Amino acid sequence: MATNAYVWCAGAEQGLDTIPAPLSTLAHAAGRLLGIAPIATHYTVDMFNWNLRDPSLPPLADNIDILHSFTGTPDETWFYAVTTEIEYRGGVSLQHMLSAIEAAAKKDSAGVTAALHGVSASIEASQAALHRMHEHLDPDVFYNQIRIFLAGWRNNPNLPNGVVYAGVDHEQPQHYFGASAAQSPAIAALDVFLGVRHGTAGDASTAVEDPDKKTEVHYLQAMRHYMVERHRAFLSQLAIEREVLQHFLPESSQAARDAYAGVAAALKAFRDEHLRIVARFIINPARSTSCPPLFVSCLQPPVNATSLKSQKPNKHATKSRTKNKFVSCLFRAYPALVDSKVKGDGGPAERGTGGTELVQFLKDVRQDGYQRALSTLN
Ligand code: HEM
Repeated sequence: MATNAYVWCAGAEQGLDTIPAPLSTLAHAAGRLLGIAPIATHYTVDMFNWNLRDPSLPPLADNIDILHSFTGTPDETWFYAVTTEIEYRGGVSLQHMLSAIEAAAKKDSAGVTAALHGVSASIEASQAALHRMHEHLDPDVFYNQIRIFLAGWRNNPNLPNGVVYAGVDHEQPQHYFGASAAQSPAIAALDVFLGVRHGTAGDASTAVEDPDKKTEVHYLQAMRHYMVERHRAFLSQLAIEREVLQHFLPESSQAARDAYAGVAAALKAFRDEHLRIVARFIINPARSTSCPPLFVSCLQPPVNATSLKSQKPNKHATKSRTKNKFVSCLFRAYPALVDSKVKGDGGPAERGTGGTELVQFLKDVRQDGYQRALSTLN
C-alpha cells in the first residue's frame, strides 16, 4: 500500500514515476516472499489488512476492522470489510466444493447434491454481503478518493512509461495493474470449480500474462499473477480435482445435476449484483459532471492525499473539455479495457459513452461463465 500511497500522493494525474529505494526494496522483498507483484493488490488492501473486532465472532463485515487505509475514511474501511467478508464466504464455499468432489469420488449423489447446495448458499451469502456495500460506502468518496490510490501503472495514461523501482529490477520501468477484486481467489475458484475457461484462449487453471494479447480473458488470467503463489497453485490443483465431479455428473442423480446448475446460476446472480455495484460506484459518478474524479487533478494544482477529501470540481471547466476528460478518465480507471478495446480502435473518443465497454466486459464474463458452466453438464 505504501507504494501506491507514494505514487499517487499528489493526485491521479501527478503520479510519481520513481519509487525511492527504501520503499521499492521493501515492496520488492515482500512481493518475492509472497510471489506477488510489488504493488497494492486485493491481498494487501483486503485479505492481509484486517482484524476482528470481536475475536469470538466470524469475519463478517460488521466485525472487521481495517489495519491500513489510504484515506482514513470509514467508507474505505467498509469497502475492504465487505470485500474481506466475501473472501471468508469464499473459504466456506471452498469447503463445500471439496466435499462435492469427495462425494463424487464415492459416487454419492446425495452427498454431491448437499455439498453443491452448500456452495450455492455461500455464493448467495456473498451476494448479500456485496449488496451491503452501499450502506457505508459513498459513491463519491469511492470514485473521487479511494479509487485513485488503487490504480496501477500498467496501461495507465497517467504513467504511460510505468514506474521505476529504484535499486531493483535494474531500474527498468515496471508495469503493474492496480488493485482489483478481480484478483480474488475466491471468485476465481468458483470459475475453476465449474470448469469455466473464459473466452476461447483461456485455461482457468493457469496464469498466463501476455501483454501482446489484448483481451479481457488475458486480463483475468493476468490477475492470477496478483494472487499469492500458494493460491495460484491451489487453483491449478482444483482444476485437476474437479474432473472427478465432472466425470460423475452424467451418471449422478437429476437432483445433483440441478444443484450443479444452481451453483452456476448463483454465480451469475452474484455477477448481476456486481454489475449493479459497478453502475452505482463507477458508471454513475463518472457520468455525473459534479464529481469528476481525475478531472480534479487535471484542472487544479497537485494536492496531497490528506486534502483529497476537500477537493471540489472546477466548475469553470469547459463542456467539451469535461466530455473529453470524462471519456479519458473513465478509461484510465480500467486498464483492462484500455488494453482490450481502446488500442487499435482509434481511441476512446470513437467509442461513444465511456461506460459501455466496461459494462460489456463484465456482462461478457458473467454470460460466458454461466454458459460454459452449464455446458460442462452436457
Ligand atoms: C465498490 C465496489 C466494487 C467496484 C466499484 C468494482 C468494480 C470492478 C471493475 C471496474 C471491474 C473490471 C475489471 C477491473 O477493473 O479490475 C471488476 C471486476 C471484478 N470484480 Fe469488482 N468491484 C467492486 C467490488 C467487488 C467485490 C467486493 C468483489 C468480490 C470479491 C468483486 C469481484 C470482482 C471480480 C471477480 C472481477 C472480475 C470479473 C468477474 O469475474 O466477474 N468486486 N470490479
